[in-house]
Amino acid sequence: MQKVGSSRRADATPHAAALIEGLRDIGYSLETAISDIIDNSVTAGARNVRIVTETLSDNPHIAIVDDGTGMSEDELIAAMRPGSRNPLATRDEPDLGRFGLGLKSASFSQCRRLTVVSRKAGKTSAAVWDLDDVAERNEWSVQLPDNVSGIPGLDQLSSAGTLVLWQKLDRLTSGLSQNPVKRTEIVNRRIAETERHLRLVFHRFMEDAQPLVIMLNGRRLNPLDPFVSKNSATIHDPEEKVSLVHGDVEIQSFTLPHHRQMNKADWEDIAGPEGHLKSQGFYLYRGKRLILHGTWFGLCRQSELTKLSRVRIDIPNSMDADWKIDVKKSSAQLPPAVRDRLKKVIERIQSGSKRTYRNVGQKLVNNERLPMWQRIQAEGRIRYRPNVEHPAFADFSEKLSPELRRGFFNCIALVGASLPIETLHADMAGAPEQIIADRVDEDTLVQAVQSTIAVLMGAGKDLSEIMMLMKDVDPFRSAWEDTQRIVTATIEMREDQ
Ligand SMILES: Nc1ncnc2c1ncn2[C@@H]1O[C@H](COP(=O)(O)OP(=O)(O)O)[C@@H](O)[C@H]1O
Ligand SMILES: [Mg+2]
Repeated sequence: MQKVGSSRRADATPHAAALIEGLRDIGYSLETAISDIIDNSVTAGARNVRIVTETLSDNPHIAIVDDGTGMSEDELIAAMRPGSRNPLATRDEPDLGRFGLGLKSASFSQCRRLTVVSRKAGKTSAAVWDLDDVAERNEWSVQLPDNVSGIPGLDQLSSAGTLVLWQKLDRLTSGLSQNPVKRTEIVNRRIAETERHLRLVFHRFMEDAQPLVIMLNGRRLNPLDPFVSKNSATIHDPEEKVSLVHGDVEIQSFTLPHHRQMNKADWEDIAGPEGHLKSQGFYLYRGKRLILHGTWFGLCRQSELTKLSRVRIDIPNSMDADWKIDVKKSSAQLPPAVRDRLKKVIERIQSGSKRTYRNVGQKLVNNERLPMWQRIQAEGRIRYRPNVEHPAFADFSEKLSPELRRGFFNCIALVGASLPIETLHADMAGAPEQIIADRVDEDTLVQAVQSTIAVLMGAGKDLSEIMMLMKDVDPFRSAWEDTQRIVTATIEMREDQ
């Protein structure tokens, strides 16, 4: 022990085997781990990243190869050191790294053996962290193999670049069947799931004039722009800027096109497995790399009203400390000044989206337009009630005796009072585009058309006015061709009489 000033000091070098195992569990998933490796490739100026997975063999592996600047042996050894950089050091503008941990912690979260082979200035260097070896020796020493030939994925390396190879994939294959075909199937499914993540996280690099090309098992991934900004129906709000001590925050709101304005595949692609409701919110990019999405940071709820709103926030890497960016680059916290601004953005979105949705609602129940349902708003409540004055009801009730007529109106009132509101709520929150009006059969449609025409003609409307009115409301709207046919037949019949 050594005396320093008035205090003593003791050696507390971490226990290598324990600490390196601990690095495994900081919460990476396969997709966030692969993204962290690709971050390094992007920072190293790579234009091509190839991910190759071999899952059928008894020693499955994942190789991620880039054509970036590569590393010399000294640089490679430094890169293999956990905590190779001080997180407080200033990073170059395009640097996506932060703690000097990503390469190691992301890799160890998925595998027990990490090999990095890098080529720079014609020289190839390799280094290996094998957790079993560390556990055995209990020391922080990285292996430097003399011979690199035979390392899987090496053939993908070009004149400069880096190969990151994961072997001993215990996490990915743990608990999986020993049957290689079954195992492959499950692992491949996991890898397919990471595909969307990569398309989203790196979409802005993939859309660049000099694009980043990511190949997954020989297939080029398409960028996934969560704002579908190239679709002409997307609404772009003006960009805003908040200037803070460590840099500028840029904010832009987008309103996605309605699902009818997009093809189904695109609509589902941007919804993803979580669906649109869960995908609304802020999309936070650090140096153009998406780090967080689908959250309003607790400033409002993800509601049906704001479902089509997505807000892009761009921050530079100089603001990491302000935003408390974590090692995995998958969480962040709002600096207070940004929080205030984002609250205003949300207020604006909410007033806007309420307007759009209400317009749709009003159209359905506008009195001028033959509503089958009335929307009644009073005392802070909204009720829907069948419109007994609708021609289809009015005309039919005319034909009934007073007693039957009372019974008929009671039945209609019952239908209105038992509207399945909870179920509708649940469906609206889940998949509103799947909710459609029920189809009516021919006989029902004929009766509705005939009575509507009778009442409206009685009210002095001409045929073209009647058609205009009917066109906008159900059940006519959703069966418009049949309706037109029945209208023609009805008019002919009336003229014959
Ligand atoms: N694919 C790569 N190409 C070139 N250099 C790399 C690559 N991957 C990692 N490095 C080097 O290794 C260092 C450590 O990487 P990493 O552990 O991910 O931490 P960070 O990205 O936070 O710096 C990087 O700063 C970089 O210098
Ligand atoms: Mg990194």
